[in-house]
Amino acid sequence: MGCLQSSNLTLLLATLFLFLSRPAHGLCKVTPGSENWPSLSSWTDLNRTTGGRLLKPLPPASVCHPDQPNYNRARCTTISNAWSSSQFHSDDPISYDWQNWSNYSCTLDPSTPCSGVGYPVYVINATTAEHVQIAVNFARDNNLRLNVRSTGHDFLGRSANPQSLSVWVHYMRSINFHGSSFSPQGCGISLNVNAVTVGSGTQMRELYRAAAARALIVVGGSSTTVSVGGYLTGGGHSPLSPLFGMGADQVIQFDIVTADGKILTTNECTNTDLFWAVRGGGPAFGVVTSFTIRAIPTVPTVVYGGSIRTSTDIDANFEAIAHVHKQWSSRLAKFGVGGYMIGTPHAGTGSISLQVIMPNATSTSVLQKKLAPILSEMASVTNGSVKASGFYSLYQSYGAFIAPGTDTNDASGFPGTGLTKLITSWLYDEDALNDPGLKNALMGASDSSTLLFNDFTAGPGTHNPPFIRGGGNAVNPAWRSAIVRPASEKHFPGLNRALLEQSKLDFLRFGESLRKLAPNGGTYGNEADAATPDFQQAFYGSNYERLLSIKRTFDTDGVFWCRTCVGSELWEEDADGSLCSVE
Ligand SMILES: Cc1cc2nc3c(=O)[nH]c(=O)nc-3n(C[C@H](O)[C@H](O)[C@H](O)COP(=O)(O)OP(=O)(O)OC[C@H]3O[C@@H](n4cnc5c(N)ncnc54)[C@H](O)[C@@H]3O)c2cc1C
Ligand SMILES: *[C@@H]1O[C@H](CO)[C@@H](O)[C@H](O)[C@H]1NC(C)=O
Ligand SMILES: *[C@@H]1O[C@H](CO)[C@@H](O)[C@H](O)[C@H]1NC(C)=O
Ligand SMILES: *[C@@H]1O[C@H](CO)[C@@H](O)[C@H](O)[C@H]1NC(C)=O
Ligand SMILES: *[C@@H]1O[C@H](CO)[C@@H](O)[C@H](O)[C@H]1NC(C)=O
Ligand SMILES: *[C@@H]1O[C@H](CO)[C@@H](O)[C@H](O)[C@H]1NC(C)=O
Ligand SMILES: *[C@@H]1O[C@H](CO)[C@@H](O)[C@H](O)[C@H]1NC(C)=O
Repeated sequence: MGCLQSSNLTLLLATLFLFLSRPAHGLCKVTPGSENWPSLSSWTDLNRTTGGRLLKPLPPASVCHPDQPNYNRARCTTISNAWSSSQFHSDDPISYDWQNWSNYSCTLDPSTPCSGVGYPVYVINATTAEHVQIAVNFARDNNLRLNVRSTGHDFLGRSANPQSLSVWVHYMRSINFHGSSFSPQGCGISLNVNAVTVGSGTQMRELYRAAAARALIVVGGSSTTVSVGGYLTGGGHSPLSPLFGMGADQVIQFDIVTADGKILTTNECTNTDLFWAVRGGGPAFGVVTSFTIRAIPTVPTVVYGGSIRTSTDIDANFEAIAHVHKQWSSRLAKFGVGGYMIGTPHAGTGSISLQVIMPNATSTSVLQKKLAPILSEMASVTNGSVKASGFYSLYQSYGAFIAPGTDTNDASGFPGTGLTKLITSWLYDEDALNDPGLKNALMGASDSSTLLFNDFTAGPGTHNPPFIRGGGNAVNPAWRSAIVRPASEKHFPGLNRALLEQSKLDFLRFGESLRKLAPNGGTYGNEADAATPDFQQAFYGSNYERLLSIKRTFDTDGVFWCRTCVGSELWEEDADGSLCSVE
């Protein structure tokens, strides 16, 4: 007895010590190896109730490591060749596009250590809302860290929760068109729009193509492998947005599994708080299983594909870029024109790619008349040292431009995946673009190893959405006045922690350079630095308070945690990867 008591005392002291040594911590999520981790038989039961859909995958690069059970040289060669393909990572249950989010715990290089410590432990390969429901209930009841993953594209590591149970929605990819009217469930109204219901793992390419086959288009991004799950919950911008609005503005209804394990249908008359929050407020509220979105009769589209030849005079390069930015609002965005500017103006002579997209234009001259003068002015402000050249093409339908019939991966021009990626961005409205500090702000946001990656995907359609249900949504209000999303990106292969740490500091500085021109504005939480100071204001703006209160109502226990997501500040991720509530 005495012996038991003293071991109880030891336990008490040990608990007390643990408690005292981690003063900021309340409840921690259960990690593998700890005594509360579910037993093998619990996992077996979970597998049985989902019809055998539980996976326990090894990290994809484990096949390259001789000390791993599945070592296989031929397979290693195959995956090494596929490593820069975003589709490869999407199709693997736990692989991730951006390597540092798995903390380099198993890289392709066999001379580095390989373990699964940076990855989810188990995965439910869900194909139905019930599979999702079972997984959410299991995670909640067992206090597990839960990961929600579709493609694993996320720049902020939000679908890379280590030591977790992961719900993988990649195979929830049905696509059903409803014809030219749709009645939101239970609302007693009929909307005269083309609508399509898609499983939340659906990737843009297949949706674009299915729509194109019906002479329809959907508002989606320029990447064809991004899935609707992360895109629509984050807001979603597109070359079509200056005309038709944000991706989230097109959503008419969705089904979601909430933290209590319910499957809810939400629309403008049912579960309206969730309907508002999930459309732009990010992935903190549950697992969406399907979205019903507006589709739009296709339009012809004119595209300018060009390149800006840069000079050794870095200042002139930025003078030229700033000129185009300043003109964009009144001379292009106003007419529904979108575009992208990608390149390295700090690098001296080289070229910056410029793509300008005008949906609903029937001849190349319509765009040429607007754009050509801007480009020649750009050359004259630099005395001819920076010049653009390119050509205009007319596509009979937008679909033929965005998802031509043959590609197997993202359109070229996107840097490959499988790297470490850093990114920072801010949204600029007209005031910011007319600020005399514009050139310096852009210049200070990158260096010669950094890609300027500016999206011109906003305009009248994002400011006053021509279509939006429920009276509004949680898209960051900064989008409602923005014209341009200047951004900086950097990527490098392999494991290089010193470079990562240095780059993280550089990116805080780059982000600050952009932000100081519009400190009351915000940025796009899907394409931003996860370390952005005051992310609540930056990613959610004035919506944050309401979002947090909805989060507290629907997810009291913090079942859905992800970095920079609503309510994420209530939890803290430790250096050892554990996740504990902040008390
Ligand atoms: C190459 C590339 C190009 C891009 N281009 C654009 C662009 O043109 N426009 C644009 O707006 N964005 C663009 N993005 C950003 C993109 O919107 C985000 O990376 C987005 O998070 C990807 O969503 P996903 O579902 O594919 O990825 P994932 O990494 O699987 O998921 C992203 C986040 O959404 C959550 N999530 C996924 N599915 C669900 C679901 N069913 N229910 C609830 N939460 C879910 C995940 O938990 C995670 O937090 C681009 C990204 C890349 C990599
Ligand atoms: C789940 O069950 C399926 C089918 O019985 C089996 O193939 C699979 O290995 C099981 N998963 C785990 C993690 O045990
Ligand atoms: C991965 O990179 C991002 C962006 O710089 C950073 O915020 C994050 O902390 C990095 N993750 C790790 C594990 O280093
Ligand atoms: C996941 O489920 C889909 C659909 O049933 C199946 O095609 C795929 O092979 C499964 N993936 C794995 C890794 O088991
Ligand atoms: C597309 O162009 C036609 C013809 O000019 C016009 O009637 C229509 O309103 C335009 N559509 C949009 C969405 O601007
Ligand atoms: C262009 O030339 C004018 C007149 O010589 C000069 O004032 C200006 O600084 C030059 N601009 C650039 C960007 O070189
Ligand atoms: C990442 O790995 C490094 C090296 O093994 C380790 O020191 C660090 O604590 C890990 N970080 C996390 C968040 O797990």
